[in-house]
Amino acid sequence: MAVNLKTLLQDSLSPDELDCLVRSYDVIGDIAMIIIPDRLIGKEHLIGETILRNNKRIKVVAKRVGIYGGEYRTIGLEILAGENRKETEHKEFGIRLQVNPERVYFSVRSGTERKRIANLVREGENVLVLFSGIAPYPLVIGGNSCAQEIVGIEKNPEAHNYAVKNLKLNRKIKNVKLYCGDVAEIVPSLDKRFDRIVMPLPTRGHDFLDMAVSVLKENGTLHYYDMQKSDNFKESQYKVNDCCIRAGRQVLERGVTRCGHCAPRTFRICVDAVIR
Ligand SMILES: C[S@@+](CC[C@H](N)C(=O)[O-])C[C@H]1O[C@@H](n2cnc3c(N)ncnc32)[C@H](O)[C@@H]1O
Repeated sequence: MAVNLKTLLQDSLSPDELDCLVRSYDVIGDIAMIIIPDRLIGKEHLIGETILRNNKRIKVVAKRVGIYGGEYRTIGLEILAGENRKETEHKEFGIRLQVNPERVYFSVRSGTERKRIANLVREGENVLVLFSGIAPYPLVIGGNSCAQEIVGIEKNPEAHNYAVKNLKLNRKIKNVKLYCGDVAEIVPSLDKRFDRIVMPLPTRGHDFLDMAVSVLKENGTLHYYDMQKSDNFKESQYKVNDCCIRAGRQVLERGVTRCGHCAPRTFRICVDAVIR
């Protein structure tokens, strides 16, 4: 939950320091993850303790170190206050998700987007989630739709292990299958086609577009994520279009959904395309 940190710290920091302070932070389960600007490093423990004191459900305050990076899209975390652990359990639309946000990628900010996709799934669909991480998409879809089957594929073995654990935790969900490995190897080995394919890897999902379209059924739906400048969303639609032309297929309907803000005037977007 977003809490205005500037208000909490207005009596403890100077006006200059308050200017540098972020307004809020992400909360995964009972861990608060905050960005501390260099100017405030001397005050980081005070900031951590203040967050802890003012939020009963937060047990750990950690600062983000660096940026999301590497093939597994992970980020460093350094504990500032509270218990000495980085594992937690997060709840999203009735789904339980265990996670260590330093070892695997997980963004609470995509929760609404995951539910949006789940709401689009029709009865009996076979859904493929590429880059499935700790399985939030497969499980939110599994718990909030009447899909026939949802297949998730993730390369980071630690994320896959959490995904398997999370599937067991959400005992009512019986229609999710999880594979550990590179989507480029696992997808062809499945020898299957899907009604809907979700591609939540905005940094380089385009490398896998041809492969995804090759296993999408006729009139199936593709959800392709990309990072894009606000005046250039068409560019992401062209990537899907070009891929369909290469495959001798045609985009019947398409739309763009803004699902996150990543940098000034840059958004995480989803191109939703029905493909013949
Ligand atoms: C942006 S994260 C999304 C994770 C998850 N879907 C979520 O919403 O939390 C992308 C994931 O793709 C995984 N990944 C990257 N390249 C991959 C590949 N070639 N095959 C399978 N998974 C891959 C990363 O390890 C990471 O967990």
